[in-house]
Amino acid sequence: MTAGPSRPVVIEELPPGKRQRARHILDDGFSGIYRLHAQFTLRRVPVVRIATFGGEDAGVVLLKWLTGNIGYVYYIAVAGKYRGLGVGGRLLDHAISYFSEKGALEVYAAREEDNSEAKALFESRQFIVMEDAELSGRFGAWQSRRMRREMMKVYGELLLRRTL
Ligand SMILES: CC(C)(COP(=O)(O)OP(=O)(O)OC[C@H]1O[C@@H](n2cnc3c(N)ncnc32)[C@H](O)[C@@H]1OP(=O)(O)O)[C@@H](O)C(=O)NCCC(=O)NCCS
Repeated sequence: MTAGPSRPVVIEELPPGKRQRARHILDDGFSGIYRLHAQFTLRRVPVVRIATFGGEDAGVVLLKWLTGNIGYVYYIAVAGKYRGLGVGGRLLDHAISYFSEKGALEVYAAREEDNSEAKALFESRQFIVMEDAELSGRFGAWQSRRMRREMMKVYGELLLRRTL
C-alpha cells in the first residue's frame, strides 16, 4: 500500500455522538492503562479529528487547550496497517493548524521516552523536549503542577513543545 493522490488522507471532525468510530484505532495504538485512559478521554475531550485513508478510518487525534494560548495533543494514533504512510504527520499538521488558527502560541504533547515512532513523528514537526524545570520556571510551581495534571503526564514520559 502506498500513499498518494489515489489514496488521499481526509481529516474530519468526530462529534461526541460518533466517537465510537475511533475506538479501534486507539485500541491498536495503546495498551494497558494508556488504552483505558485513551478510551476514557475519547468520550470527554473537546476536539477529536479522524483521518481516513482511501476512505477507511486510519488515524485519530485528541486535542484540548491547556491554557488560553497553549494547545495540547492529548493522544494521536494510527491503526497498525496504515502506519508509515504519512497519516500521523497529516493529523499532527492538522492539530498544529487548528491551534494556530485559534491563536495558540505553542502546542504541547507528551510521549514515552522509548517510543521511537512517536519520537520520529514529533521531531518531524519540530517539537522539542521540554524539561520539567523549564515548565516550572515559566509557569511557577502551582500552575505547572496543574498543567501536568491536565496533561496526565506520568513518570517516564517526555513533555514536548512546539512554538507556533
Ligand atoms: C506515532 C504514530 C502516530 C505515527 O503515525 P504514522 O502515520 O506512522 O506517522 P507518519 O507515517 O506520518 O510519519 C511521521 C514522521 O515520522 C517518521 N516515522 C514514522 N514512523 C517511523 C519509524 N518507525 N522510524 C523512523 N521514522 C518514522 C516519518 O518518516 C515521518 O516523517 P516525515 O513526515 O518527515 O517523512 C504511530 O506510530 C502510532 O499510532 N503509534 C502508536 C500510538 C502512539 O505511540 N502515539 C504517540 C503518543 S500519543
